Amino acid sequence: MVRRKPLVVVTRKLPDSVETRMRELFDAKLNIDDVPMDQAALVEAVKTADVLVPTVTDRIDSAVLSQAGENLRLIASFSNGVDHIDVSSALNRGITVTNTPGVLTEDTADMTMALILAVPRRLAEGAQVMIADKEEWPGWSPTWMLGRRIWGKRLGIIGMGRIGQAVARRAKAFGLQIHYHNRRRLAPGIEEMLDATYWDSLDQMLARMDIVSVNCPHTPATYHLLSARRLKLLKPDAYVVNTARGEVIDENALTRQLEAGEIAGAGLDVFEHEPAVNPKLIRLARQGKVVLLPHLGSATLEGRVDMGEKVIVNIKTFMDGHRPPDRVLP
Ligand code: DGY
Repeated sequence: MVRRKPLVVVTRKLPDSVETRMRELFDAKLNIDDVPMDQAALVEAVKTADVLVPTVTDRIDSAVLSQAGENLRLIASFSNGVDHIDVSSALNRGITVTNTPGVLTEDTADMTMALILAVPRRLAEGAQVMIADKEEWPGWSPTWMLGRRIWGKRLGIIGMGRIGQAVARRAKAFGLQIHYHNRRRLAPGIEEMLDATYWDSLDQMLARMDIVSVNCPHTPATYHLLSARRLKLLKPDAYVVNTARGEVIDENALTRQLEAGEIAGAGLDVFEHEPAVNPKLIRLARQGKVVLLPHLGSATLEGRVDMGEKVIVNIKTFMDGHRPPDRVLP
């Protein structure tokens, strides 16, 4: 019996090498023009595909899933986070969901560390002065554009999974004192290796930190984890960095606090309503109080190729009748 190749619908343009491999292995319907799919296109895709490969820009909610054809057995997401997929709804329909954990850990931790350095040391502001038309560099001065020292400060990491730990390793090398809050405390050996102090109470940790880094996934439990009330616990000279998901912070509350000067600054790579960015945050960035990046945490060529390879392995393993390595559990 000749087994037909699975119809794999990919919602966005992927690196060329990944697309070539997908063409070889699958009946791959690629999106080489990279036009984001609207709801109607996603519905069409789930009606026909055996496998859907979405990314973080696609909302695979229960309305889309309710239209899934009986062939759709696997959603192999090209992403680490899966908050864009209604996983329970997929699982209830017998659709397996996979993601791409691990391969973007180091890249995301690098970007987190970059923001931890960039915001207190006024990197974006300084770089802007050198290229701005109007503002000229007045030359070195003992009191001009002073930032805040990183070394010796307290870093509070919210979410001590793979990425949080990779941030801790980097931050330790920069002389930061590592503190963390996590659902579960790390094993003593790992805590010792990272020289990390565990806080069972997020509130108590927030009140003591100089820099807070959000590195937990967005789930119903972490939505607005940094709520208006919790943000108020931060010291006025504290900085907030977020490379996880915008939804973990109440963005309006954060913006209000930055505007009021109740915290010192923020470095944000993710936003609550991407790709829309609160205009007040943009204004604050122009004033040098925040550094905004366009969700670049895992944006390296190597990382994207590795993610693509993970997607392929997940699809192949599943199609061969085995449990895919990166199955997302309820
Ligand atoms: C992910 O995969 O979850 C990242 O946020 C995308 O870079």
